[in-house]
Amino acid sequence: MIPQSFIQDLLARIDIVDVIERYLTLKKSGANYFARCPFHGEKSASFSVSPSKQFYHCFGCGAHGTAIGFLIAHNGLSFVEAVRELAHNAGMQVPDDGRDTRRQDDSHERLIAIMTTAAKFYREALEHSPEATAYLQRRGLSADIAARFGIGFAPDGQALQRVFPNYQDKLLTTAGMVIDNDQGRRYDRFRHRIMFPIHDRRGRIIAFGGRILDSGEPKYLNSPETPLFEKGRELYGLFLAQKAIREAGFVLVVEGYMDVVALAQFGLENAVATLGTATTPHHVQALLRQTDRIVFCFDGDAAGRHAAWRALENALEALRDDVTLSFLFLPPEHDPDTFIREKGIDALREAAAHATPLARFLLDSIAQDCDTASAEGRARLVHDAKPLITRIPAAAAILRLQLVKSIAGMSHLTQGEVEHAFGIAPADARPRATTPPGNAARPDQRRPPARRPPPSTVSTLLRLVLQHPALAARLPIGLIPDDSAEGRALIAIIDLIDLGEQPGGLGALIERFRDAPHGDTLARVGVELIDNEFDPAVIEALFEDTLLALQIDAVTQEFDKTRAELGTPLSSDAQLRLGARVRELQAEKEDLRRKRSTLATLTKPSDL
Ligand code: UTP
Ligand code: MN
Repeated sequence: MIPQSFIQDLLARIDIVDVIERYLTLKKSGANYFARCPFHGEKSASFSVSPSKQFYHCFGCGAHGTAIGFLIAHNGLSFVEAVRELAHNAGMQVPDDGRDTRRQDDSHERLIAIMTTAAKFYREALEHSPEATAYLQRRGLSADIAARFGIGFAPDGQALQRVFPNYQDKLLTTAGMVIDNDQGRRYDRFRHRIMFPIHDRRGRIIAFGGRILDSGEPKYLNSPETPLFEKGRELYGLFLAQKAIREAGFVLVVEGYMDVVALAQFGLENAVATLGTATTPHHVQALLRQTDRIVFCFDGDAAGRHAAWRALENALEALRDDVTLSFLFLPPEHDPDTFIREKGIDALREAAAHATPLARFLLDSIAQDCDTASAEGRARLVHDAKPLITRIPAAAAILRLQLVKSIAGMSHLTQGEVEHAFGIAPADARPRATTPPGNAARPDQRRPPARRPPPSTVSTLLRLVLQHPALAARLPIGLIPDDSAEGRALIAIIDLIDLGEQPGGLGALIERFRDAPHGDTLARVGVELIDNEFDPAVIEALFEDTLLALQIDAVTQEFDKTRAELGTPLSSDAQLRLGARVRELQAEKEDLRRKRSTLATLTKPSDL
């Protein structure tokens, strides 16, 4: 564990602009800096970096974070590695607070070393195995492509005993390379299999997939989940495909290792595969960081349709209006490997270009299960659509609106009736027209299409505090309602300051709460705030105004409660007391309102 105080000192010492400038060419415009986003392919500069907030955000793909977060996302570093790198560049020594980080980090490195050593052994074993090379030849794989993907061969028996002098090392089990049986005997997990190394985004080997030679069960055996490898997050081939994905403008997601390798051999290098699991939201998010177009490719049989549907369900929450997700169904007798061999790359590219868009697939699938000629069938259709449509986030509000309209048409209901049945707010597709004050027009003003409701008092205060953390010291903690995530985040910030901490700015606050739910809340608000740069006088005026609003809210609440109490049967004593209190509160309320209206309000909270 690196002490929090060190992280805060570090963030105070560095500038996110310097950090990001090492990797991207930044251009200043207004208060912020802009660049082409490194996390998704784009021609315009939607990626902005705010020096005052020490925060970055891409208006195109939604990527955002602090300087530490940037190194994690861009360079694939762990949190500790990112902090070490920043500290190194700032000439600071990362302290150790007694808990053993070194050993933990070490074991990570040692696990990677085990995987790398094993992969090298498997590659050499392939060269010495006529049986395995003959198999690859039979599958039509060239030696070049096998080398590019680092494909190897795990011989029979306890081959790794020859590679690792300490075959009993516990780390070999942790790495998933050996298995201890009930009799305490240890043997290799992968035996007599073609080995596909699985790389992380930095190109380090973190797992293997092994295919049996010819027939046998299981056909494919993967590494188990280990400290290095979480199946639902990794994609086979992503490291090698990154450049090709950016160039092609889309990624093709297939099911098999062999498919990825065969596609690359035939020139389609922008393909990746899930690792024997369904497509997860993590997969979709990871891919949307690299491209705005995903084509999921499935076999044309029932199993393929089923897998496609699961991918659709898991993709819904990652949807955005500026991305295209589609589904390519191959003819039943084909998988991508056989398809490209038989029909060629152009046919596959053509098929990918005409893949079924997600909305079409969704509507067709639910319509297929319902008899829309009957009222019952149409009710069922709306019923089936509800859990799907409600999962679509605000970032895809326009697509959601289209789907609602289609479902309304199919079910003979109005749009409003469908929205009511779904329990979603009536869609309002008008874009926000306000431009924040004090802000030069950005080169690319892509805004999320959803219209935001005017912020509550608490969210206005949180937004002000994030622009100017010192304000938190002046907030009456007892008056902040804790019934929202934003309220709780605000209370946590006030607590920090009461404890004597002096958070630097937005970036520092987000790191302070990295592992708490507040971190996400603050990052979400930070995204909205990134291009707002207010004059301190405006902030002060708004703060006073909002503080008064908070006090008015509190007084009004007590007023309403007391008056309600007055309406219940009471002793005459109590009646007098409460009556006096109501009048007091009424006067207080009016007083606060007067004060608020005489305050020169320079800006409306809705501009925040
Ligand atoms: P397929 O059986 O369709 O594989 O499984 P494939 O790539 O076409 O296999 P080849 O062409 O016969 O070599 C698709 C994917 O599902 C996972 C693997 O990731 C495989 O690539 N799978 C399949 C497993 O994890 N375990 C299995 O037993 C089978
Ligand atoms: Mn196959």
